[in-house]
Amino acid sequence: MKTMKKRNNIILIGFMGIGKGTIARALYKEIGLFPLDSDDLIESAYNSKIKEIFAKRGEDEFRKTEKKLAKFIEKNVNNAIISTGGGFYKVPNLKKLGTIIYLKSDFEGIINRIKNSPNATKKLAKRPLLKDLKEAKKLFEKREDEYEKVADFIVDVSDKTPKQITKEIKKLLQKDNK
Ligand code: S3P
Repeated sequence: MKTMKKRNNIILIGFMGIGKGTIARALYKEIGLFPLDSDDLIESAYNSKIKEIFAKRGEDEFRKTEKKLAKFIEKNVNNAIISTGGGFYKVPNLKKLGTIIYLKSDFEGIINRIKNSPNATKKLAKRPLLKDLKEAKKLFEKREDEYEKVADFIVDVSDKTPKQITKEIKKLLQKDNK
């Protein structure tokens, strides 16, 4: 069988609430590639919110759908900026989807970022795995090293504005293309 070449997408990974969607949109303004979001695509396929998919169909089905979506991206998507749900990094073909950028911060930084945002309540309510902050912290600690391992680039986003983060990513990508 023909093996597929790595796609020319930018894949943003990292924990819930780190700002992957925000950075994807900021990158669109900066470099013009359209932003796609794995959760949005899954919500659109099910015509249902992530919270409802978890409640009605269970996390296992959601994870299977993430894998299906990753296969779809590998086959069909190129030249896009893809922000991903916090657990998407586990799809087996992740490295084939594009350049993987891990947006990194410590747990407290992430929670403060959410709590200080204008729609904090909504941001917490829509994420089933953030319901219990103790459990969420455990999940973060389990994933921290794994995010780093799969990343092509790690960008520390602590105390930086979306503009600063976007500039940093743009520079990394320019170097990577040389
Ligand atoms: C998840 C993160 C969420 C969403 C789902 C599961 C996770 O996306 O995919 O609730 O396992 O970390 P965000 O990272 O956009 O919150």
